[in-house]
Formats: sequence, C-alpha cells, structure tokens
Amino acid sequence: MILAIETSCDDTCAAVVETDGRRALSNVVHTQTEHDRYGGIVPEVASRAHLERIDGVIQSSLADAGTSLEDVDSVAVTVRPGLIGALLVGLSAAKSIAYARSLPLVPVNHLEGHVAAAYLADPALEPPFVALIASGGHTALYSVDRNHHMQLLGETLDDAAGEALDKGARMLGLGFPGGPALQKAAQGGDRNRYDFPVALKGRDNLDFSFSGLKTSLLYKLKDLGEERTREELPHLAASYEAAVVEALVRKLMRASDFEDAQAVVVAGGVAANALLRRTLEEESERLGAKLVIPPPELCTDNAAMIGAAAPHSPAIAYPHYLSLNARSV
Ligand code: KG4
Ligand code: ZN
Repeated sequence: MILAIETSCDDTCAAVVETDGRRALSNVVHTQTEHDRYGGIVPEVASRAHLERIDGVIQSSLADAGTSLEDVDSVAVTVRPGLIGALLVGLSAAKSIAYARSLPLVPVNHLEGHVAAAYLADPALEPPFVALIASGGHTALYSVDRNHHMQLLGETLDDAAGEALDKGARMLGLGFPGGPALQKAAQGGDRNRYDFPVALKGRDNLDFSFSGLKTSLLYKLKDLGEERTREELPHLAASYEAAVVEALVRKLMRASDFEDAQAVVVAGGVAANALLRRTLEEESERLGAKLVIPPPELCTDNAAMIGAAAPHSPAIAYPHYLSLNARSV
C-alpha cells in the first residue's frame, strides 16, 4: 500500500491507496479554517496549521483504512507546485516516515495528482487522453500520452478559473471559497440575462484569460448600484458562472477535437461545479469521447490523488531522499 501526503495549499491531507494507484482505502482532508477571517490564504498561517494537524491526519488515514505503518510499502508526497512552507511540512513528514521504516519515497507533482484522480474514479482508464485542470491556482489543458507524460496544450494567461470565481463571488458579497458560493447563489438565476465576455475565442487558441471577465463584472456592479445588485444577484451569479464554464468547455472541446481524443478528463476544484459537469456530459457525448470527472471530493485537493499518481512517478530508494527539496513552481 501507498501512504500519500498532500499539503501544498490550505488542506492537510493523507490517504492510503492500493499499490496500483487505482483504489483509495482512505482519504482524510482537513480544511484549514484559520484563513476565513482574512478572505484568502495566508501562507505562513497555512504552514503552521499543517504542522499542528499533519500527525493526526496521517494517523486517521491509517485508521480509516484499517491498517498501520507496518503494511505501507512506499510514501508518496506532493513536492511541487504550491506554497513552499506548506509543502515542506508534508515533505518532512513523508521523509521521516519513509526513513524510519526504510521505505522508498515518491515525489509527486500536484497537477499530475489532480489528473490521476481520474484513475480512482475510473480504474479502467488508460491514457492517451486530454485533461483539463481547473482549480484555484491553475487552469491548464494537457495531452497525456501512453507513458503518462503530460504535455501542456494551453493555460491561463492571468487568473485561474477558480480564482475568477472566488474574486467574482467576493465582488458579489458572497462567501469564500467563491465557486460553491456562486453555484448556490446562481440557483434559479437566468444565465442569459447578462452578457459577460469569454476571452480568446480565436479558432486555434487553447489558452484562457479571465481578467476581462472580472473587470466586466466590476463595471456592471458599478452601473447597477447596491440595491439593484441585490435584486439581480441570482442572475448576476448565474451569468458570471456561465461565462467561466463556457470558456472551460469551449477550450477543452477544441483540444479534444485537435487531439482526436477518445477520452477527456476534468480535474481540480472547479470540476466540482454542477453546471460544468452537466455541460461537459452533453458536449462529450456529442463528440463521442469518454468523459471522466472524478466525484467532487476527489476534484478538490486531497491525498488519494497523490497516491494515484505515485505509480507513474519515479520513486527514490531509501535513504537517498533526505536532501530532496520542495519547489513552489
Ligand atoms: O483544487 P482546489 O481544491 O485547490 C487548488 O489547488 O486551488 O480548487 C479550489 C477552487 C476554488 O477556487 C473554489 O472556488 C473552486 O475550486 N470550487 C468550485 C466549486 N467547488 C470548489 N468552483 C465552482 N463550483 C464548485 N462547486
Ligand atoms: Zn489543487
């Protein structure tokens, strides 16, 4: 079994995953609430909170899987990209456990982890496929080849999709994280009432841009004034959410078309969005491609996805990982 650890941002996560990376036996996520009062993640606060929680989260992941460290064959851990202090807490914990038990250590790229969540959702899935990662920190399209190698096809030139949702929600006076708050506020709203821009529509373009969308909402809110904004909230939320979803769907379908993809994978926190999931189901059916979107708990940050990526990431034998470092990018 693989013990997997993920601490790249504000979730302290540990999981136990079977050696082939296709089944999670446990998946423990502790989401830090320390940041709520700041309206965003404070890196140093995140590192300290990870440090306080990491041992308990690892113990829970072993207990939930009905196992102990005796049965662990390797330790997988996110080493990049992420908040450097936060990453170091997980990496130090992983090194300590691996070293104490003479086990190999598997450094995992967080983005490859997000994509690998698809193997837990569909254990029969094999590359090649096209993957979209849409989270609070990243929005990128990849072509994944037979050897699980990821090639970048396009990415955001400014804000990530989740960031655009978070900032939009904030302007509308909704809570953080903004994605789920916007989705809730959009219920019953008319998605066609406001025409928010979808950037980089050019035929061959596979990049994203969300900064114009954000500015357009800002001007719209200034126009409407406070009272009308309150009245129009469901429609504003629905139209804004729809613009983000349209940009993601448009580029993902274009990439699938270019790559003649038989399968399409969507991952990252934004993949928890109901409108995005519904729209992609319709679109992929039209294209005749198989669509894999992991359940929401595997889309947002978690350690099971890191365990799922481990079989495709080079392991470092005991004890050669002690000088291994984390990287923010
Ligand atoms: O992957 P993730 O948990 O963390 C990062 O690595 O960034 O993604 C978090 C992002 C946030 O921006 C959040 O607003 C968004 O995912 N998100 C959603 C939903 N749930 C989370 N966006 C839209 N709809 C949702 N239901
Ligand atoms: Zn993430």
